Parts: sequence; C-alpha cells; structure tokens
Amino acid sequence: MKEVTEKTRNLQPDCVGRETIHPAKYLTGGVALPGDKSISHRYAMLAALAEGTSELRHFSAAADCHSTLGCMSALGAEVKIDRDIVRITGRGPRGLKSSWRALDAGNSGTTMRLLAGILAGQEFTSKLTGDDSLRKRPMKRVIGPLREMGADIRGREDNFAPLEIRGSKLKAIDYQMPVASAQVKSAVLLAGLFAEGETSVTEPGRTRDHTELALEEFGAVIEKRGRTIRIRGLSGGNGSGKLIAKSLDVPGDLSSAVFFIAAASLLPDSNVLIHNVGLNPTRTAILDLLASMGASIQMLELKSAHGEIVGDLSAKGASLKGGLIAGEQIPLLIDELPMLAALGPYTEEGIEIRDAAELRFKESDRIAALAENLRRMGATVEERPDGLKVEGRAKGKLRGAEIEPHGDHRIAMAFAVAGLAAEGPTVIRDADCAGVSFPAFFQELNRLAER
Ligand code: S3P
Repeated sequence: MKEVTEKTRNLQPDCVGRETIHPAKYLTGGVALPGDKSISHRYAMLAALAEGTSELRHFSAAADCHSTLGCMSALGAEVKIDRDIVRITGRGPRGLKSSWRALDAGNSGTTMRLLAGILAGQEFTSKLTGDDSLRKRPMKRVIGPLREMGADIRGREDNFAPLEIRGSKLKAIDYQMPVASAQVKSAVLLAGLFAEGETSVTEPGRTRDHTELALEEFGAVIEKRGRTIRIRGLSGGNGSGKLIAKSLDVPGDLSSAVFFIAAASLLPDSNVLIHNVGLNPTRTAILDLLASMGASIQMLELKSAHGEIVGDLSAKGASLKGGLIAGEQIPLLIDELPMLAALGPYTEEGIEIRDAAELRFKESDRIAALAENLRRMGATVEERPDGLKVEGRAKGKLRGAEIEPHGDHRIAMAFAVAGLAAEGPTVIRDADCAGVSFPAFFQELNRLAER
C-alpha cells in the first residue's frame, strides 16, 4: 500500500478526480445514455408505494437515483439491483415503515422534495437530509404547500434540510404554485395521494410532466386541464385505493444526451446518433431552441411508451447563431442552461439568458459558476441577478483552462464540451461529480471524440 505522506496528502485534492479534455476535430458514433433521471426517481418512489414487484428496466445509473433507491429501501421497500434493471417490491401506499436512520438524499433535490410529499402523509416520523450542497438548497417551496395540507415539517431556519417530517392526516388543497417547478408540483401531487379529497396544483408555466404520467401508469386517478393538474386521494376511491406494480422501460436521459448534441453541433464533420431517448414534449424545448439557432438535429423513430415519447436523435456539425433565452422557455430547459451558456462564445451572436434566477438554487449557484469558468476560458461575460450575457464570435479565441465545477455535474460536463473546441487542454477539477447524473460521461465523450 502507498504511504500517504504530508506531501502526497497535499497533492491529492489536485489530482484525484481530474479529467483533461483535449481539443477534438469531430465527434462520431453512438452514445450509451443512462436512463432518464427524472423518470427513474418517480418510478422508484411509486413502485415502493405499489403492491407487488415492479421491474424498472434501463434504470438510471445516476448517483441521484441511487439515493432515491437507498431511501425507498430504508423505508421498507425491497430493492434489488441487477445492472440497469431494478426490481422493487412495495407493500402498498400504507406499507412504508419508519426508517431508524435519517434518509439521505445525497446531492438530489428531486429525491428530497418529492419524498417530502410522500413522507408528509405517512403515519410515522422521518428525518430527511443530504450532502453539503443539498442542505443549502431552499425547501420552503415544498414545506409551504405541504403545511397547508396539514403536514408537520420542521427544517433548519424553516427552509433547509435536515427536515423532520411527522406524518399527519392530510387534507386536499388547491395550490397555485408561485415558481414554475416540477419538483414542487410533484411533492404536492404525491402528498395528494394521501390526502382526503381532490388536490389540485396550478403551474404558472409549464414544467416537466413525468410525475403525472407515472402516477397514471401506476393507477392513480389524475386529470389535467390547462395548467391545472388534479389528483384524487387514494382513500377517496380510485377503484382499488391502491397503486399497481408495473414493468416499465426508462427512456434514455435527454438532459444527458444534450451534452453530446452540443458537442456534435460545435465540431464540424460530427455525426452522432443516440438511440432510445426520452422525447417528452415538456423536455424537448432544448432541441427546438438549438434547431432555431441553426443546429442540425433530427428526431427519428418516435414511439410512445408508458405515456412517454421515445425516439432516436441524430446531431451533426453546424454553425450556431445564438440568441436570447427568457420567460416561459426557462422552466422547460432549466437543466440545459449551463450547456447553452457554455456554447455562447462559439455562437455568432452570443447567448443571453434572462428570467433564470432559479439557476442560483441548483446543485451550485450556476450563474456564478458559469460566469467564473467562462471567464477562465477567456470569454466575455456579464453576470446578472437573473442570468448572464455571453459574448459570441470567440471561436478560435477561447483557451483551455482549469475548470472549477463547484461540485455541480452539469457545470463539469458543459465545460468538458466547451473544452473540445478550445485552444489547448482543459482540466476539469473534481470531475467525478458528473456521476450525479452520468457516471460514464467522460468515457463516452473520449470514445466519440476524434483528435
Ligand atoms: C426536476 C425538476 C427540475 C430540474 C431537476 C429535476 C425533476 O427542478 O432542474 O434537475 O425531476 O422534477 P425544478 O422543478 O425545481 O426546477
């Protein structure tokens, strides 16, 4: 065993988990994507509330989804993992048991916020915690509506994890969401399963609808009219008062595919094909936007599976115009904004992002992290409270740099892509953080990049 001396210990933080990205000529081949992260979380939670064994195929390899599996298992569901197939045996909506230890959501906001909705309606008390980043992210947005439903939730400064959730008898509410957030909508709908009567949520802007589709798949009674979604509490009679175990295929994660689509767009002569990608219309705004900027993207072989739309994607080298991203577009491509901003210098007009203050509350303060790292590469950036403006026409002028992702997977991956078209190597510090959503990201990027 190698002895750890003072010298090696000091060196370690600098050499562990770094990835060097060398400039590439083009990207070619097929990408093996992890299963969709958002859908995997929802299937795992609902499978644990259903009666019987659900088989979830192509379940996400993301560390975040494994945090959800850990929590559901600690709550008494039987979870068996066989490569990307996860079998979960639940004992019905009232079958969860109190966990003797705190439930650890790791880095995953989706795990914490959605689970808060489920735990609010149980007959036991739970403690829900997460890593340093998650413990700094706002939870008031779920604490507020869940309290209105009668939940007893306490958090640090009434806003942050660890959360203590004492299960209560919940009542249905009609909730007007102040922020367009799929996580908040989902927390309220999941709590609605345990409430008496019919709960409704109205969103100010459209957000991803995987929760609605998954709830329907598992047998809940749910109805959508315009921006309002209604769910009937299980005790109110959905026929069986139960959720039904299912065998489901998780489509590939579009938000992971986007890094390869962006890289292919950036490098002329690229040709990338990605099979079996989730193309739910509440997620594809990024494809429309890139296409409107000049990207060469095609959706092929579309089909419907378990309410979700799935298909293949092809992306080729292109010249990107850039432009403004704002307003109702923002919640529909919230996770893609880091990649778009990092493409900014390579576009003709640059990229301007407005109305996206929400980015400051993600796995890192993404506005600050983007501005910092774009500047490290030599880009001109104006940081604003609700977004940023990145100057374009910097192709050939950007230099490889040392990137600090601040523990944020999407910042690490976005700058790995930007590094492919820069002068000289780019070093991504703490690159292992990509595993939060895409553990094989660097391996796949290097496999497809021709130098
Ligand atoms: C997610 C919703 C989004 C997104 C997150 C995943 C989900 O968060 O940023 O990565 O699975 O519901 P918000 O709904 O809070 O914007």
